[in-house]
Amino acid sequence: MNNQSVSIVIGASGGIGMATLQYCLQHKVSDLVVAISREPQNGMAIDQEPALTWLHADATEEKIKAAVNHIKNMGLPSEIFICSGFLHDEKNTPEKRIENFSPDLWAKTTEANTLLPILWLKHLMPLLVKTDACKISVLSARVGSIDDNHLGGWYSYRASKSALNMLLKTAAIEFSRRAKGVKIISFHPGTTDTGLSKPFQKNVPSDKLFDVNFVAQRLVDLTRESKSDNMLSFIDWDNKPIKW
Ligand SMILES: NC(=O)c1ccc[n+]([C@@H]2O[C@H](COP(=O)([O-])OP(=O)(O)OC[C@H]3O[C@@H](n4cnc5c(N)ncnc54)[C@H](OP(=O)(O)O)[C@@H]3O)[C@@H](O)[C@H]2O)c1
Repeated sequence: MNNQSVSIVIGASGGIGMATLQYCLQHKVSDLVVAISREPQNGMAIDQEPALTWLHADATEEKIKAAVNHIKNMGLPSEIFICSGFLHDEKNTPEKRIENFSPDLWAKTTEANTLLPILWLKHLMPLLVKTDACKISVLSARVGSIDDNHLGGWYSYRASKSALNMLLKTAAIEFSRRAKGVKIISFHPGTTDTGLSKPFQKNVPSDKLFDVNFVAQRLVDLTRESKSDNMLSFIDWDNKPIKW
């Protein structure tokens, strides 16, 4: 293994993921940047980036393991941004009423929002135990807060993010013993103008609908500035704590 610092952006083709990747490259956050996506590298402004490695992986353990094996030969992760997530597709919209609850939507949502991040942490563990300092931010959502749930609805999405928080809290406790250099953040980006929020933007005031580049800057800067306190933080884009 060589000793270069590596930033990893998972879900790199998504709205927030791509902006985060670009921000990491532009601001030379680390020596090397690894993008993880189910999609091929789609060009744009990052085609010619010598620091960038684009790896293909979905939510299967086999693909995640292969990607981690690749990263292992590059260096140690200094920042990890898990920007993947799922809310709706052509067949499924978030449930307004309990009658809309669908096992298919539940399974898809939980796989992307809950299972995928914890599988990444599981397979990255051999690298995390070796690092002196690694900051990890996982994209969560305020609607995953049980305290903050005043409106109801969105059963699968809410529950997938609440469960994500529990898994991250459990990991943070274990890492405080086994991977002391690791800090984990559960990050709420605010309503951000991406494909994920598109169908739900109608009633969002324009000053509350964030541009992806603004969110990427907040995500990367707050992650890098966070204190290595071995705790899980649940914070928003403004660095305000969110109740569990
Ligand atoms: N946008 C918002 O207003 C908002 C608000 C609160 C929280 N969030 C959270 O922020 C994160 C990023 O959202 P976004 O707005 O950037 O969404 P997005 O543009 O839809 O991107 C999400 C990315 O997640 C990955 N992904 C989706 N389904 C997946 C699956 N089944 N298995 C594996 N990967 C999957 C894909 O990345 P690849 O194509 O690269 O594989 C996809 O491009 C999500 O966790 C979301 O819940 C967003």
